[in-house]
Amino acid sequence: MALVGVEKELHFAPAKRYKTNIVKMFCKQGFRVWYTFLMNTSELETTARALVADGKGILAADESTASANKRFAAVGVEQTEENRRTYREILMTTPEAKNAFSGVIFYDETFWQNTSDGHSTWASTGLSRVSSGQGKPLRTYCAENGIIPGIKLDEGFVDLPGFPGEKISKGLDTLPERALKYRDAGAKFAKWRSVIAIDHVEGGANIPTEECVNANAFVLARYARICQEADLVPIVEPEVLFDGKHTAKECEEALSRVLSQLFVAMRAYRVHLSGAILKTSMVLPGKDSDIAIDALDVSERTVRVLREYVPEELGGVVFLSGGQTPQDAFRNLDAIVKKGPHPWGVTFSYSRALQDPVLKHWAAHREDSVGAKKIFARQLAFAVAAREGKLPPNTTAESFVSASQDV
Ligand code: G3H
Repeated sequence: MALVGVEKELHFAPAKRYKTNIVKMFCKQGFRVWYTFLMNTSELETTARALVADGKGILAADESTASANKRFAAVGVEQTEENRRTYREILMTTPEAKNAFSGVIFYDETFWQNTSDGHSTWASTGLSRVSSGQGKPLRTYCAENGIIPGIKLDEGFVDLPGFPGEKISKGLDTLPERALKYRDAGAKFAKWRSVIAIDHVEGGANIPTEECVNANAFVLARYARICQEADLVPIVEPEVLFDGKHTAKECEEALSRVLSQLFVAMRAYRVHLSGAILKTSMVLPGKDSDIAIDALDVSERTVRVLREYVPEELGGVVFLSGGQTPQDAFRNLDAIVKKGPHPWGVTFSYSRALQDPVLKHWAAHREDSVGAKKIFARQLAFAVAAREGKLPPNTTAESFVSASQDV
């Protein structure tokens, strides 16, 4: 009777429908609670917070073998498994790394490799590989030094059929098994990269198209949910590419569309946002646009987009360097942080901006791992200062190890 009274007063539907709606509502909430039980939300949140902790950032050492080989070839280093291992060991065992890095993103090959006091051979055990030898796995070395090991889980891209110039990331089909395999071997987080190009395709549409934006958002959201059920914090990376002649305004529009759709999909696919991290590009004029990069403009546009489209409850925001010179990548991050406080922890997750001068030095002086580590330590000092918004204003191009090392 009371229900009927309330229905009448609030102009609700007849009692039967109202009761049915209540039951439905509880079912829906129940499902939500049940879905949340499929993941360890507090562990995910703790890891996400640790990844964007004050004064630290993430090393992206997850270049695929093809990308790593391309970079080695550009500086004349032989493209072997052992060289990739040795080079990455230099990065991870630099003494300053443990204070600068919250996490390292591994590529599969390195994930199973050991420090040099052992062997880097692999033994196949069905789905998983194990390292043998006296050295310890690099991922264990990192974990023992307080650096959280993570794994790249996308398997690259294929063309999006019917959409010239656009790509879709792949690897979802085998993801549940792969996620559990890396989790069981010590990974605490994962990364998945999608790429979004800005261009005008001859005789076609401007890109990115809605279809490409939506398709990649769907894949990233499904990846994120699968990771969370395997206790891995997903880093979702929809990279708006720096390549091209576009303006900063066009980049801002593209990134806005990408992030808007991404979070619609993340919510729809029931991703626990506080246990997930966004890895994003900055808003930049295209590399071939002949427009100079201005840190103030980059930071204003980037922060405007993030504040508009990134939910406040998200676990964190990290940036890729995307082919910027190291000094642009550090200065732009510094300017973005200075626009804070932000609702999320904001930091770097760079590959090239941290590594390029190190790789160049090591390529030219292969026995000088100490010198390579010193250069890396210097890059880390810049990155950490930028992450705190404390890059000294008088930092000139000459202060950096190299002006442009986009190898
Ligand atoms: O996916 C991209 C990498 O994780 C970051 O690389 O800093 O060279 O853009 P980058």
